Amino acid sequence: MGCPGAGKGTQSARLKETFGLTHISTGDMLRSEMAAGSALGKQVSALINQGSLVPDELMISMLEKVISQAQKGVILDGFPRTVAQAQALDTMMQRLERQINAVVMIDLPESEVIKRLSMRRLCKKCAKPAATSTQPACECGGELYVRADDAPASVKHRLEVYRAQTLPVKEYYQNSGKYVEINGNQTPDQVFEDIKNVLKKVK
Ligand code: AP5
Ligand code: MG
Repeated sequence: MGCPGAGKGTQSARLKETFGLTHISTGDMLRSEMAAGSALGKQVSALINQGSLVPDELMISMLEKVISQAQKGVILDGFPRTVAQAQALDTMMQRLERQINAVVMIDLPESEVIKRLSMRRLCKKCAKPAATSTQPACECGGELYVRADDAPASVKHRLEVYRAQTLPVKEYYQNSGKYVEINGNQTPDQVFEDIKNVLKKVK
């Protein structure tokens, strides 16, 4: 978990590489649908570009499909984002006889969010953010682009949506014994060390 720009995608990619977990980013999945021009992509593009959430029912059915197919452990990046999604995830986990091992919240002050997202460019091919603001292309050779929802008005709305709809999810997990907060305002290496330390203690 974490607000827009907290580093969820950056850290998930590292966890995937290091531990061979499956990375499920609901945002990346929705952007792929948009890029492919699918019916689903067309249905959600206006909501995403303005920074609003996609309806719960749609997200829940999308998630159930990918989680049930995953053989190994899964990193959920950007889901659950509402209390209804968190409740649906619990039901899904019971049905699939799987469990949530840890809920990792990456904390970042809003001033830092705005700075990061105003500079971010992403790769069309591998979906990773560019390491520097000046490089002409991604390390993998892919073309770089700016996400439509990184426009200042959309970032402002995403933060409002986060406070109103996603922060209650933090309360949902806070007393579960699985909830941990990490300081996201450190270098990516330091954040990764903190997350690995949390995962070492996971049952
Ligand atoms: P989503 O794609 O999940 O966007 P988000 O939550 O707003 O988060 P971001 O992807 O912008 O940030 P991030 O935390 O991944 O940070 P990153 O690692 O890229 O969702 C997009 C939209 O899809 C939603 O608004 C909604 O419409 C829809 N959606 C998705 N899931 C949904 C759901 N479950 N229900 C309903 N709707 C849903 O890092 C950001 C930048 O900072 C990068 O440039 C990176 O290089 C840099 N950076 C990362 N870490 C550091 C660090 N430690 N120090 C300095 N820079 C850093
Ligand atoms: Mg992301």
